[in-house]
Amino acid sequence: MNLKTLEGRSLLTLLDYSKTEIRFLLDLAKQLKAEAKAGGPRQRFLGKTLALIFEKRSTRTRCAFETAFGEEGGHPVFLSTADIQLGAKESIEDTARVLGRMFSAIQFRGFRQSTVETLAEYSLVPVYNGLTDSFHPTQALADIMTLEESFGDSAGKTLCFVGDGRNNVARSLLVICAKLGINFRIVSPPSLSPDPALLDICGPLARESGAEILVSPDIADVKGAHALYTDVWASMGEEAVREERAGLLRPYQVNRPLMDRTGRPEAIFLHCLPAIKGEEVTADVIDGPRSRAWDEAENRKHTIKAVMLATLGCLAG
Ligand code: CP
Ligand code: NVA
Repeated sequence: MNLKTLEGRSLLTLLDYSKTEIRFLLDLAKQLKAEAKAGGPRQRFLGKTLALIFEKRSTRTRCAFETAFGEEGGHPVFLSTADIQLGAKESIEDTARVLGRMFSAIQFRGFRQSTVETLAEYSLVPVYNGLTDSFHPTQALADIMTLEESFGDSAGKTLCFVGDGRNNVARSLLVICAKLGINFRIVSPPSLSPDPALLDICGPLARESGAEILVSPDIADVKGAHALYTDVWASMGEEAVREERAGLLRPYQVNRPLMDRTGRPEAIFLHCLPAIKGEEVTADVIDGPRSRAWDEAENRKHTIKAVMLATLGCLAG
């Protein structure tokens, strides 16, 4: 049974999704995961088409969208910027208009948030943000699903992001935690603190949900966290500042002593991947017993399938 408010919607930032809508998607994703383990072919995307536009590289996001859609009878079409005119010889608006006439939905991964917003405005079909410089909303859904697989209800739990607090992944976690009542800490050097404008938007959401938001440069603030989360020190497109970032973020590496500083033996480790082992996280942590990074990668597929089923109106009832 679908939640009718999700039909026809794009997923651009998660900011316009209510707590009820996010909870629906997470619960559906858990159901889909159980269903996938039980086996049995389904054809819920039969007759549907999905354009997958990639300006940046991807393993998980592309494969999650392609397999989730294709295995249920949908037809995904991969389009790199070497293949299509996207703002090169044709405006993004015009590309969007044309794709909207041919596809049931569009996924975009790339640089500017404005590109994915324009695609949604002009294509008139659901558009999914598969990562921009500003947000990575499908990642945040998989992250919270993974947190809940370890701890049950996520409300009132504490997730701590350690590293580049301004990046797309940290920003989307801030949004989803503020909506769902999950305490969220960003531990980062002051120059990499999250954008105050986004904190201003999330503050009232957190007050409403009961989430406590903390931004701190002090590594001691990992204490009490149920999960430590990190991401690469330099995101795609930031290759030129890699060295500088390494200098700033080396003291924020997630390693065994830092996991121990949570004071919780049951604390888990999360990472969106890809990871650079020996930089933002040590191999013994990401490959060790407290890591849930591989479940988290798998959960990308279940959460993305949930988003597509709900927004394309492909659920029974
Ligand atoms: N986590 C994530 O988005 O991975 P990819 O860059 O491989 O898609
Ligand atoms: N912050 C990273 C996430 C990769 C999934 C990047 O943008 O490169």
